[in-house]
Formats: sequence, structure tokens, C-alpha cells
Amino acid sequence: MGSGNPLAAFPALAAGLENVEEELRASVITNDTFLTEVASHLILAGGKRVRPGFTLAASVTAATSDTPVTAEAVMGGVACELVHIGSLYHDDVMDEAETRRAADSVNHRWGNLRAILAGDFLLARASEIAASLGTEVAGLLANTIARLCEGQVRELQDAYDIGRTEADYLLSIEGKTASLLATSCRVGGIVADLPRPLIDTLTKFGHSYGMAFQVVDDILDVTATDEELGKPSGNDLVEGIYTLPVLRALHSDLGGDLAPLLGDVLSSGQRDRAREVVRASSGPAEALAVAERYTDEALRSLEPLRDTLAHTALRAASEHLIERVGAVTR
Ligand code: IPE
Ligand code: IPE
Ligand code: MG
Ligand code: MG
Repeated sequence: MGSGNPLAAFPALAAGLENVEEELRASVITNDTFLTEVASHLILAGGKRVRPGFTLAASVTAATSDTPVTAEAVMGGVACELVHIGSLYHDDVMDEAETRRAADSVNHRWGNLRAILAGDFLLARASEIAASLGTEVAGLLANTIARLCEGQVRELQDAYDIGRTEADYLLSIEGKTASLLATSCRVGGIVADLPRPLIDTLTKFGHSYGMAFQVVDDILDVTATDEELGKPSGNDLVEGIYTLPVLRALHSDLGGDLAPLLGDVLSSGQRDRAREVVRASSGPAEALAVAERYTDEALRSLEPLRDTLAHTALRAASEHLIERVGAVTR
């Protein structure tokens, strides 16, 4: 729980993340024991809890030292994590993934139909909690779910297209990932009733961090192992999702070797060959440079928060993100 989350090093945030765990588990209990079991599955499997960590960190922006987080911030974090987990239930159906968070994916254990319904249930619970935090949070979360769907649909439209542009890629990850990280920060600012300019600052941070976060996830998909990720690596290539390291590799001097391997469904042997070419190319390093640009942008947007706990905590999170690439890339 919270493992791999650098925010857990801050006592007030660690205590808040413990509350998030309890409330997450409580939020999916229903009269139907089977639905409760399926909806609890990925909550119990763990995860880094990046999004609720950001909600909590943003909510203590006005504090200069370790101050306990509020119940509203905890519930805001729970709503954001439920949206994230609901989207993972659906994403694993789309990707036909068999593992997630080092456990069976829900679709693999119970089938696509139940995974989709349980994912819907998690999104509904998130909406219910958001509504209890006020109309602004409810509207924001609903809008974020819509943007997430737009990003996922955009990605599907580009599947197996080696002509996918970097602009197409960036628009997709902005919707599917950056929007929820921006919202996770924003919700923390709203429930803490921070001045509007500070809420916008936190939102901007979350957006830039979220762009870097997805670029890093996409690099790790080509450079890390299944065990390191707790989910299938190399799956983006199999599914025809050509991400930044792959797009850069296609435009590198090894592009001529890579292009003929792409454009269609891959066998595991073809996937391994394509991964080797991407890894041997300048693609991953170039993508990492882009991720660093986004984390630099994220850190710059934090400047107005200097000398606050939120600044220290969110800066640590940004640094940790880039270190993670080095830690699992040989
Ligand atoms: C995975 O998110 C999906 C992406 C947006 C890349 P995380 O890397 O936050 O997954 P968990 O929550 O730790 O499992
Ligand atoms: C993130 O993209 C998906 C969502 C935002 C739901 P990925 O498809 O890269 O996520 P992983 O790699 O399966 O976790
Ligand atoms: Mg996926
Ligand atoms: Mg991925």
C-alpha cells in the first residue's frame, strides 16, 4: 500500500494515505458479495496511489509543516483513485492484459463482461463520493472521466498506424492520463478552499507531471520486465499502440528496421524483435528527455508554492518519477 509512492515519506501524507486505504475498501462494499469481491480486487492488489497522494499533498498547500489532512481531502483522493481503478478495469479489457498490480487482471479472472460492469460500478462510486464534496468537484470529475474516454478513443483510432504523429500521441495521453492527475491536484485545492490562483497552479503541475508520467510508463513498456511492472510489458507494441519511444525510434536511423515489423498484430517473437530494435535506437533516451522537459515544466509551475509542504512533497514525486526510469532500465 502506497509502496513506490514517495509521498509516504511525509508523516501527515502517510497517515492520510492510510485513511485513503480504509475508505477505498469501504467504498466498494455492496449487498452483493460477488460484486464486492470483483470491485475490491485491484484495491486489495495495491498500486502506488499516486493520485490520492497528490490530492492530499495539494490540500496541505497552505501548511508550512506536517499538518493532518482533512476528511474531505481523503475522500477527494478516494474519488480520484476510484476513477483511476475503474479506468484500469476497462483498459485491461481493451488491452487483453492478464496481469495488473502483480495480480490477475479482473478480465483474466472473471471475464470481460464482469470487468466492464465492475469498472462502471467503480466510476459510479467515484461520482457519488465526488457529489458529496460539492457540485464543483462532481462536475470536474465527470468532465475528467469524459476526457479520459476521449484520450482512450483517440488512441484506439491510431492503433497499428505507423504514421501516428507525435501530436496525436500527446493529445491522447493528455486525455487518458494527464487530465486525471491534474484533477487529483485540483480536487485537493478545491476542498481546502485555497485561493483560485493556487488551485490553478496545482492543476498545471498535475497536468505537466501527468504528461511525464505517461511518457515514463510508455518507456518502461519497452525497457522493463513484467516482474518490474506487475503488468505485461511490451504490450503496447502488441496492441499497436505506438508510443513516444517507438515513434522516435521510427524516425531514427533504425527506423528502416522497425517499420516492417509494425503495422499489424505481433506474435511474441515479433514483439521481442521490435522491442530490441526500439531499445537499440535513440527512441527511449529521446522520450526520456521529453519526460524530463515535462517534469521541469511541472517543477517550474510549483514555484509560487515555494516553502510549503506541497512544494517539497510534489517536487519529491517529480524527481522520483525520472529516477524510476533509471532504476528499471538496463
Ligand atoms: C497506470 O497507472 C496507468 C497509467 C496511467 C500509466 P499507475 O502507474 O499509477 O498504476 P498503479 O495505480 O500504480 O497500479
Ligand atoms: C493508461 O495507459 C491507461 C489509462 C489511463 C486507463 P496504459 O494502457 O499505458 O496503462 P497500462 O500500461 O496498461 O497501465
Ligand atoms: Mg493498458
Ligand atoms: Mg502502459
